[in-house]
Amino acid sequence: MAAKPSTYKRLMVHTLTTNFREAVTIETAEMCHPKKGEVCIKNKYVGINASDVNMTKGRYFTSGKPPFGVGFEAVGEIVEIGEDVDNFKVGQSVTYMNSYMNTYAEYVCVLAAEVIPVPEINPGYLTLLVSGLTAAIGLDKAARISAGDSVLITAAAGGTGHIAVQWAKAADCHVIGTCSTEEKEKVLKDLGCDRVINYKKEDLAEVLAKEYPKGVDVIWETIGGKVFEDCFKNLALRGRLLVIGGISAYKDEDRESVQKRDLSALPEQLLFKSASVVGFMLLHFGECFASYFKYMSETLEAGKIKVVLDNGEKSTGNEFFGMEGIIRGVEHLHSGKNVGKVYARIY
Ligand SMILES: NC(=O)c1ccc[n+]([C@@H]2O[C@H](COP(=O)([O-])OP(=O)(O)OC[C@H]3O[C@@H](n4cnc5c(N)ncnc54)[C@H](OP(=O)(O)O)[C@@H]3O)[C@@H](O)[C@H]2O)c1
Repeated sequence: MAAKPSTYKRLMVHTLTTNFREAVTIETAEMCHPKKGEVCIKNKYVGINASDVNMTKGRYFTSGKPPFGVGFEAVGEIVEIGEDVDNFKVGQSVTYMNSYMNTYAEYVCVLAAEVIPVPEINPGYLTLLVSGLTAAIGLDKAARISAGDSVLITAAAGGTGHIAVQWAKAADCHVIGTCSTEEKEKVLKDLGCDRVINYKKEDLAEVLAKEYPKGVDVIWETIGGKVFEDCFKNLALRGRLLVIGGISAYKDEDRESVQKRDLSALPEQLLFKSASVVGFMLLHFGECFASYFKYMSETLEAGKIKVVLDNGEKSTGNEFFGMEGIIRGVEHLHSGKNVGKVYARIY
């Protein structure tokens, strides 16, 4: 067993709110040791996700009763092995999404069955977990993309969006991506986006109506509210609008205005377009994780998927580091300024 300190730091949710900084406390806890079937991982990098603020609000995946841990994914090194685990060794580099959802910590004990070996501790693997798996499985299994489809990706330069853009391009689709800055426009063009819509400069609904008069076949909708309406209006016959998220309503203060929309005409509109609106939650597709992660990590190692990483250095001048760095990372993502996958370094 590698030397472990007697205590470690972790973030725990004590107050149910979407204000991440107010929700969490940086705690020093007694060192954890793996139970039967678990391994203990020293986290090197953690991935930050838009839904971290849904977690801190207790909206899903918990009893909703604080205190509880937070964080969906990490990359690190195994430092201790529990009873009945014979397929891992101390010192091995691994990545994981764990069902305890408490990765925002220096050390985490995780079910060995949820751990994936990787050749090296590289933050790029974080992009292939929550973000990458959602992009790939969502587009294949729920949106059923095929060659020749037009595919609109919202928040296309974000952690999930930039993988979705590449996945749809690799399937020979025509890809439209939305974003809010010139820097993101450039990233999207470099990734092969056929049409980039900077919604701060152009009106999304107007561009779609003018340039795609027959509508768009597949829409990857992550924003909600007016963006959902503009997208839905421009869905093609037999089109599929995939509800991946609704970030404009995640913050408590924005929720009511975004969600108070009249969707009573939706069934008739769907009928007359033979269209579908499909929800997608990654956790409901667990049987696909291993094969998709294997394929994507091989594609990454072969240089065929580009991961765009944002550790805060470029935009804020300081790397997101440690427990305070995680908090800054979540705030950065929700400022809308992030380019690519946001992550924090833990040691
Ligand atoms: N269903 C699932 O299983 C699943 C899994 C993973 C992610 N998701 C969803 O996918 C979306 C992207 O998640 P992510 O973690 O990859 O985040 P992200 O895309 O890296 O960051 C969020 C981006 O959303 C855009 N945005 C638009 N309106 C915003 C607003 N009101 N506030 C903040 N940002 C806004 C910003 O980019 P621009 O404005 O420049 O475009 C921002 O950079 C989220 O809706 C998330 O909940 C769902």
